[in-house]
Amino acid sequence: MTDFSRYTVSIDYDRRLYQQDIAGSVAHAKMLAKQGIISQEDAAQIAQGLAGIKQEIEDGSFPWDPALEDLHMNIESRLHQTIGAAAGRLHTARSRNDQVAVDLRLYTKETIVALVRGLRGVQRALTGLAEQYHDVVMPGYTHLQRAQPVLFAHHMLAYFEMFQRDIGRFHDCHQRTDVMPLGSGALAGVAYQTDREFLAKELGFSRISANSMDAVSDRDFVVEFLAAASVCMMHFSRMSEELVLWSSGEFGFIRLADDFTTGSSIMPQKRNPDFAELARGKTGRVYGDLMGMLTVLKGLPLTYNRDLQEDKEGFFDAADTLTTTLDVFQAMLPGLKLNEERVSGLAGESQMLATDLADYLVAKGMPFREAHGIMRQLSRHCDEGNIGLNDLPIGEYKKLSRLFEPDVYDITAISSAAARDNPGGTAPGRVAAALAEAKEILEAAADGF
Ligand code: ARG
Repeated sequence: MTDFSRYTVSIDYDRRLYQQDIAGSVAHAKMLAKQGIISQEDAAQIAQGLAGIKQEIEDGSFPWDPALEDLHMNIESRLHQTIGAAAGRLHTARSRNDQVAVDLRLYTKETIVALVRGLRGVQRALTGLAEQYHDVVMPGYTHLQRAQPVLFAHHMLAYFEMFQRDIGRFHDCHQRTDVMPLGSGALAGVAYQTDREFLAKELGFSRISANSMDAVSDRDFVVEFLAAASVCMMHFSRMSEELVLWSSGEFGFIRLADDFTTGSSIMPQKRNPDFAELARGKTGRVYGDLMGMLTVLKGLPLTYNRDLQEDKEGFFDAADTLTTTLDVFQAMLPGLKLNEERVSGLAGESQMLATDLADYLVAKGMPFREAHGIMRQLSRHCDEGNIGLNDLPIGEYKKLSRLFEPDVYDITAISSAAARDNPGGTAPGRVAAALAEAKEILEAAADGF
């Protein structure tokens, strides 16, 4: 008969939770002793035995046994081998169901703290670029058509905002993950006078779960984590798309450092933006992890079902993908070289100033809709004649409105950006203030969380 036991084994991946599992067990044994449920001597032996096991895992000598299925059984069985009978008392007033829930919550909380730190690093890189190129004007786009001049710094700070929201989502998720489930037992609670608040304190949780049935079957925090990770990857994917476009010959806006481009095996001239492309591509797998988790949970009756074991691989995959993406962007962004001449040249092309010329007429009393119509005609005229608005003789302007004077030629990309002087706009003063505020946010979050 074929051996199907591999099907249920999770040890290949859940061993990543060993630190949290051991911390949870040490706290549990301590609590059991404090409550007089096991002796102090047994608790001390258990703690010592678990410390030895942690050491074995870290130096690679731990005898992992797939026949024992998961991390929890591997550790408990090894504890028996190393300390003997006392090991048998550890699982009093506990089930693997609340045990695995506490492990994953601890792990998720730690992961979030690390990811937020990484996001702060990316934000720091963005403010660095905004500062370095603070006065450079570039074309801003809608529909991927050149639309209006904007400051490059304004563009960078747009991403700062996205990552700021991502951090907010991870903070929210952290708050709902920060709930201690031990004491829920298999599903109904435990028949011992345990001290759950003590456990929460020992393990650094802010509060304890309110319902044992919910606590052993709830994986909302995993869904929320994956959702936050998906949105965050979506932001990196959008930025990646711009980096890919901008580093193309057609745009020629930026040059990425050599470390973040690769050559082609056949075309010697190529500098492919592979890292940005891969970030864009890896976004797909993180979405997949989210969809996988939602699908696992859909239709699960209360309470614990073995399906829940499928929560881990997608979670780890998304956490790893986002972690490395954050590492890459923290290293890649500071080395980005902006082709200032190219972007400011394009920003100054007069067709981009059509809105400003309409505003010019409005300033002289014309209703905006009418001014828009006139500029539309002038823009068409320029397109057909293949000439810029600034090369159009004043006589041509005057044909459409007598309000035009020779000062129409004073309108530039810089004056256009400077005119957008309202909160959230791209005027240099506004962008400088936004940059200062962004740096304050980073300073206030100096430790990253
Ligand atoms: N390996 C299991 C998981 O990840 C641990 C909990 C097992 N509980 C059980 N009743 N079989 O979900």
